[in-house]
Amino acid sequence: MIKKTVPHIIVIFGASGDLTKRKLVPAVYNLHQQDLLGHPFAILGVSRTEMSDESFREKMKEFLPADKPIDDFLNHLHYESIQTTKEDDYHKLKQRIDSLSAEIGAPGNIVFYLSTPPSMYSIIPEHLAAVGLNNESNGFKRIIIEKPFGTNLQSARRLNKDLLKFFGESQLYRIDHYLGKETVQNLMVLRFANSLWEPLWNHKYIDHIQITSAEKLGVEKRGGYYDESGALRDMLQNHLLQLVGLVAMEPPTVIEANAIRNEMLKVFQSIRPLDTKNLDQNVVRGQYTASHIGGESVIGYRDEEGVNPNSRTETFVAMKLHIDNWRWSGIPFYIRTGKKMPTRATEIVINFRPTPHHLFDSLVNTINTPNQLIIRIQPDEGILLKMGLKEPGAGFNVKTVNMRFHYSDLSDSYVPTAYERLLLDCIQGDATLYARGDNVEKAWEIVQPVIDEWEKNPNAPLHGYPAGTWGPLESESLISNEASGWRYPCKNLANDGEYCEL
Ligand code: BG6
Repeated sequence: MIKKTVPHIIVIFGASGDLTKRKLVPAVYNLHQQDLLGHPFAILGVSRTEMSDESFREKMKEFLPADKPIDDFLNHLHYESIQTTKEDDYHKLKQRIDSLSAEIGAPGNIVFYLSTPPSMYSIIPEHLAAVGLNNESNGFKRIIIEKPFGTNLQSARRLNKDLLKFFGESQLYRIDHYLGKETVQNLMVLRFANSLWEPLWNHKYIDHIQITSAEKLGVEKRGGYYDESGALRDMLQNHLLQLVGLVAMEPPTVIEANAIRNEMLKVFQSIRPLDTKNLDQNVVRGQYTASHIGGESVIGYRDEEGVNPNSRTETFVAMKLHIDNWRWSGIPFYIRTGKKMPTRATEIVINFRPTPHHLFDSLVNTINTPNQLIIRIQPDEGILLKMGLKEPGAGFNVKTVNMRFHYSDLSDSYVPTAYERLLLDCIQGDATLYARGDNVEKAWEIVQPVIDEWEKNPNAPLHGYPAGTWGPLESESLISNEASGWRYPCKNLANDGEYCEL
């Protein structure tokens, strides 16, 4: 089905913020360059700072490519300053939108992008509704809500309720930028466009699954936000659980928003509630400490700007999950994420069961590391299959070899950024890659027992790990039942081992 783009206006709240400059405006620019936005269209930046259209354009210039034509695109940028907390100011906003619509000849199709502090996520929609900017009689009105969607189950439920007072579910686009990544979408294609994998994709042939999202960076300038959030809320509740959903779901009947979201929801509903009495056996949290990386000394998390010097916020979390359904019964899913790890790598590792009977000697530990399918989300995007083959020469020695595919080999295809893909989908009314309200709540329900436990017991174990390492040793115990242990990814997909990036 070819999706159509109709004339529209994108209103960005929080236009003077970082996300707008770094991600949103460049994403719209790329879409414009590929002629995907159709005509006419306009972007209206909105925030408190007083600014003219001209100075907004000037500010955005610096985030657009210096070596490409940008003047035509800049003419599409406009700006309006309002106090977003003041309902009265929304009359002014509505007038500006109306005159912009008349000026460019676009009817009332509007995407509102909430790139503001989360405290505004309920307030802005309410004020938009007060001036009729939720009314779709003259064109669509859609709202994109950035993360974090709530800080716990209760606040996520409240936010959903608040939003649904003024906008319908079909107007709400809750962003999880991981779903916008090409390689994440490819996961569905890999699973459902090939007859090879699906028969093996279950407890009979799979031993366990690992998902790692490691970051080399620390908290950078976001210490204030991060210290209130931590890895569980910042990465695991959203990005990692979405990956679990896509790996574990049943084939949807069609590739369409609700069909896919229904299958994802069923996975979340089947995740076994964590046993809070033995939380340590299923969840490990850690915090990075001062260390040396590549000969340079690096500070620990507690010394980062904006972080409480006695902070017990986790910068690493690993969790063991079970999905109690027909397909996954008895198969553990190990998921982990952390800051200041040895390298940046996000990948899914499907560990297949060993052969039922071992016929050959193995040079490498083939019995302990049987077939692995590694789906690399980033970087060096691609797919790696590890299998045992005969070592040339006498006897029957088995050696683990790699078969790989790198996205970069498709060098002539342009890979859009997550924000490009997601923005375009929203403009075209396709919510497939956005999270539905009930899915987000269910994902919070999965992590809520851990949040409660840590809040109740602030002294629950928090393990230190030197910056630049793979997290606390305790995360090894979590996976100790698996002979393979964690895979330690390197920057390059096909390499593995602890010390690949010196
Ligand atoms: C964001 C988190 O959602 O995802 C950040 O708030 C994290 O802390 C980022 O760094 C990771 O995204 P990516 O696309 O770089 O893997």
